[in-house]
Amino acid sequence: MMTSSKTLCLAKLVAFGLVCSVVAFCLFFEPSPHDCQSTSAEVEHYESVDQNKKPIVLLWLWPLGVKFDFKVCSSYYNIDSCVLTADRALYSKAQGVIFYHKNIGWNLHNMPKGPRPPFQKWIWFNVESPTNTAKNFKLNHLFNLTLNYRRDASITVRNEVTIRETESKEDFVPPNKTRLVCWIASRTIGTGARDRYYAELSKHIKVDVFGLAHAGRRLSYEDYYPTMRSCKFYLSFENSMHRDYIVEKVNGPLVSGTIPVVMGPPRQNYEQFYPSDAFIHVNDFPNPKALADFMLALDKNETAYRRYFEWRKFYSVTPHLLSIKNEFIQPVCLACDHISRDRDYRVVHNLFKWYST
Ligand SMILES: *[C@@H]1O[C@H](CO)[C@@H](O)[C@H](O)[C@H]1NC(C)=O
Ligand SMILES: *[C@@H]1O[C@H](CO)[C@@H](O)[C@H](O)[C@H]1NC(C)=O
Ligand SMILES: *[C@@H]1O[C@H](CO)[C@@H](O)[C@H](O)[C@H]1NC(C)=O
Repeated sequence: MMTSSKTLCLAKLVAFGLVCSVVAFCLFFEPSPHDCQSTSAEVEHYESVDQNKKPIVLLWLWPLGVKFDFKVCSSYYNIDSCVLTADRALYSKAQGVIFYHKNIGWNLHNMPKGPRPPFQKWIWFNVESPTNTAKNFKLNHLFNLTLNYRRDASITVRNEVTIRETESKEDFVPPNKTRLVCWIASRTIGTGARDRYYAELSKHIKVDVFGLAHAGRRLSYEDYYPTMRSCKFYLSFENSMHRDYIVEKVNGPLVSGTIPVVMGPPRQNYEQFYPSDAFIHVNDFPNPKALADFMLALDKNETAYRRYFEWRKFYSVTPHLLSIKNEFIQPVCLACDHISRDRDYRVVHNLFKWYST
């Protein structure tokens, strides 16, 4: 909705970026097919609100306590169809109330106490993967909308990067490289599946590790893109494996002219968001050594390496959030936009049954 008419099929080509999980456990988890209807089990028409006025959307608590300016929705995302507020005095008038999952108390003690207006929709806002989401069954039958990275959420947030069709059919020349394989690890390297893969891979190819895991090699925001550009390959390894859980780690390399080497859901899931020849999937190789050998071969063969950028003849890639460092703003803006259009009655019954499939 924020992009030009040139934007192709959202599901296929809008890449995205969300939030890095802070607490991370690496579980290999193969999601099973899931019925998209379970978030909107009951849908009826509901019309008792003044449709001439902009709806009020209340952010019940600042996500993780981080405040931001709601004006960004209109100035940056061109969304101005609701009145966003954090003022709880407006609760009884609010058509939408946003609750960030991690902020919700286990006993729901910090949720609204008063009667719930019949027109009001509660929005469950979560950007962590199922592995890193505490299951609180008291949250079932409480919400009306889900705000999440999943494509079957009521409000899907995943467009930090937009890949568009371009006129130019010129060859894209990747920037000069000074490093082979890079990885930004947000925490200490442990023994999870992702870390074990890295440990094995690094026996066969040099990997430059940045971030918390290596003291003194923490990357500042300003250094992120220059560093990313200097690497031939970047390890875009997700902290846990779930359908659609492909976060910002792929965007950085795509924007920078670096090949993302992805680990996460199966290749087909990535291909729903990115051109199939824009990345290397670890599952394409029987083991880390085979992947290392493949990258070493690409390092020696510029023609073969450049093939991973051929999609750039047809698409251009734009990061959306270069200047906005708070990743919670965009989802809140999208919720505002959704509430101003959505007239359906709905209840999210079994929130965690849905979220764990
Ligand atoms: C990249 O390297 C080539 C060959 O060494 C050189 O001609 C070119 O100017 C460099 N480009 C940049 C942007 O530094
Ligand atoms: C380099 O890669 C290209 C494309 O895959 C291939 O045709 C060519 O034979 C390779 N060159 C060498 C020297 O291996
Ligand atoms: C929202 O969900 C609640 C809890 O199930 C329900 O009581 C309420 O009627 C729903 N409201 C709307 C507008 O869908």
